[in-house]
Amino acid sequence: MIKISPSVLASDFSRLGDEAVRAEKAGADLLHLDVMDGRFVPNITFGAPVIKCLRERVSLPFDVHLMIADPMKYIPAFAEAGADIITFHFESDSPVGETIEQIRALGKAASLSVKPATPVEQIFPYLDRLSMVLVMTVEPGFGGQTLIPHTVEKVRILREECVRRGLEPDIEVDGGIAPETITACAKAGANVFVAGQAIFSSATPEQVIASFRKLAEEAI
Ligand code: DX5
Ligand code: ZN
Repeated sequence: MIKISPSVLASDFSRLGDEAVRAEKAGADLLHLDVMDGRFVPNITFGAPVIKCLRERVSLPFDVHLMIADPMKYIPAFAEAGADIITFHFESDSPVGETIEQIRALGKAASLSVKPATPVEQIFPYLDRLSMVLVMTVEPGFGGQTLIPHTVEKVRILREECVRRGLEPDIEVDGGIAPETITACAKAGANVFVAGQAIFSSATPEQVIASFRKLAEEAI
C-alpha cells in the first residue's frame, strides 16, 4: 500500500499547526516529523513538546523520524507526545535490538533507518521485528537535497530480502523525493514516500500528493 508522508521540515515553522493541517487536508497518509538534536546531525529542529501540540490538531498517524544520538533516552517522551511510528537510526548510540523492543513495548510501530553510506544488509538481523525500514536517500540533516542514486539499489536489496523471508515491512524513502525520482524508488520496492520541499513549496499540495500516489502506483 502506497503512503505519502509530508515532512513538515519544509513548512513555515511560524505556522506549524496550520501547515500540518494543510498537509492532512491535501490527502497525506502520514505526517513526517523530523527530530534533530544537533549531535547526530548538524541541525536542530524540535522535540516532543512540539509534537504533543500538533497532536491536538491533526489526526493523521505521526511518522516520527529521530535523528538523535541517544534515541533510547527520549523514546518514552515521543510515545507519550503522540508518535505512532518511531524511526531511529542504526548509526545512533543506542543498542539497536533493545531500542526496537522499547518502542514495541510502548505499543508503537518500530522503524529503523540507515544513512546512505550504511549497507542495508546490516539491519537484516532485525527485520522480523520492524514495522518499517527507512532508507535515507540523502544525508540526514537538511531538506531540499537531491536524491543520491545508489540508495535506490539499497531499497531493491532490502525488498528482495523481505520477499525471500516472507516479511512485509513498509519501506520508506526520505530525501529528494520528486516526480523524477519517485518512480525508481517505487519500482525498487519502496511504498512510503516522504516529501518536504515538493509538497510544502507547492500552492496545490493536494495535486502533488495525488500525482506522487499515481506515479508510485503505476510503477508497481
Ligand atoms: C532530512 C529529513 C527529510 C527531509 C526531506 O534529514 O529526514 O525528511 O525533510 O526533505 P525533502 O523532501 O525536501 O528532500
Ligand atoms: Zn525524515
